[in-house]
Amino acid sequence: MRKQIVAGNWKMNKTESESIRLIDEIKAQKLNENVNVFIAPTFVNLASAVKSTKDSGIQVAAQNMHQSSSGAYTGEISAGMLLDIGVNHVILGHSERRAYFGETDQLLNEKVQAASDAGLQIIFCFGEELDDRKSGAHFNIVKQQLSTALFDLDKSQWSQIVLAYEPVWAIGTGETASPAQAQEMHAFIRTLIEDHYDSACADGVSILYGGSVKPANADEIFAQTDVDGGLIGGASLQAADFAAIVNGFE
Ligand code: PGA
Repeated sequence: MRKQIVAGNWKMNKTESESIRLIDEIKAQKLNENVNVFIAPTFVNLASAVKSTKDSGIQVAAQNMHQSSSGAYTGEISAGMLLDIGVNHVILGHSERRAYFGETDQLLNEKVQAASDAGLQIIFCFGEELDDRKSGAHFNIVKQQLSTALFDLDKSQWSQIVLAYEPVWAIGTGETASPAQAQEMHAFIRTLIEDHYDSACADGVSILYGGSVKPANADEIFAQTDVDGGLIGGASLQAADFAAIVNGFE
């Protein structure tokens, strides 16, 4: 069975003390034990988050990393630095990184390879913009994103990959893809992977949905056959909401 995953992307929110408080509040919640729970605080709060989550079952992910292992890249963080402080997961390709920091699928391909080589687990984000959806180009856009960024990976590397389909028009907007739209795209994504690799690879990869997931809509979205969890932004900043989303799995 595929892993069920709920990951909270905290983006550029929470000071260190606020971050530790939120972790304590999440730990105090009753969480469905079948769900793999991740939180992704800012870089400066990763080390304290690793300590605060120790023995809790909650795992810590970074929101980004650089593709080189070290060197003259002022302001950047490498995969090795993350692993060294006990962070084993990284989110790559978030639409905000693409939109505000110019990350392309070519660059993301380098980041994915670097993360994979270092031994990190990767939550890879992708998804179409509103215009693409309106013009009916969404399937092609997603195919292009996955082909460029991921389809030169060896099949064995897919054990390190979790996908997060996040239609840009649904992120932070309160607008959610309907459960049927999410299922349709997730099934399409699985077919792409099956066509390029094989059905074992396609069946094994967890595909998360992201974009305005809330306690009120999580259970319906997670009930879809090809939806294996969620990447949560705004609602992950409130412990009770985040726990309710985790518990949106039956
Ligand atoms: P949202 O963000 O849940 O606030 O829409 C999702 C994301 O950016 O991953």
